[in-house]
Amino acid sequence: MKPVPNEVVEKQLEWRYATKVFDSAKVIPEADWKTLERALVLTPSSFGLQPWKFFVVTDPAKRALLKPASWGQSQIVDASHLVVFAIRKNLSVSDIERFVARTAEVRGTTVESLESYKQMMVGSLTNPSIDINAWASRQVYIALGFFMATAAMLGIDACPIEGFEPAKYDEILGLPALGYGASVVAAAGYRSSTDKYATLAKVRFKAEDVIAHI
Ligand SMILES: Cc1cc2nc3c(=O)[nH]c(=O)nc-3n(C[C@H](O)[C@H](O)[C@H](O)COP(=O)(O)O)c2cc1C
Repeated sequence: MKPVPNEVVEKQLEWRYATKVFDSAKVIPEADWKTLERALVLTPSSFGLQPWKFFVVTDPAKRALLKPASWGQSQIVDASHLVVFAIRKNLSVSDIERFVARTAEVRGTTVESLESYKQMMVGSLTNPSIDINAWASRQVYIALGFFMATAAMLGIDACPIEGFEPAKYDEILGLPALGYGASVVAAAGYRSSTDKYATLAKVRFKAEDVIAHI
């Protein structure tokens, strides 16, 4: 048997929607939150470099400050959890070396044996034609997708949020000093019974218009 039946996957993906109004009284249980964090950690990235950090904002005062920097969207303060998906800014050779060291540690090998792999990554990512922060941002959106899909499988509501001011987030959360920059945000928790968006029909192009078999 498949680990998750097709009909369950499809049902949960239909069930999810970008939640506009969260029930502020409902908190995601610890075990479910741990699974969501695990989904973030397990997200794949180009070369496996993981050019990111996920800031889970738990301080209500900080979340209150973030709301006006997010077009006043209520999800920022009402959702159970708020994650700021941040990129490693201006990823450099030292970040690649950190990843190589971790690879050696996890796989029980030496850094020296990974030298050509390292040079391949350095050559590719230090190429002047690459916008390294745009590249990192593309990677972090994969984590957003993983997070939302995992939440849907767990029956947890979420809202991806691009409607915010990254520079203000960086300042409020002190990200530049840590070498990170906010890229996208997700709120997670449980929908309010008052959220009329929950029952709106999903607007998607027909499969034949977005999927081509060639
Ligand atoms: C990257 C991204 C950013 C988004 N930003 C916002 C946002 O700031 N506020 C909001 O209410 N919805 C936001 N949305 C939700 C989209 O409007 C929504 O996903 C889309 O209309 C499809 O609807 P559905 O997710 O409910 O199926 C965002 C979605 C994505 C993928």
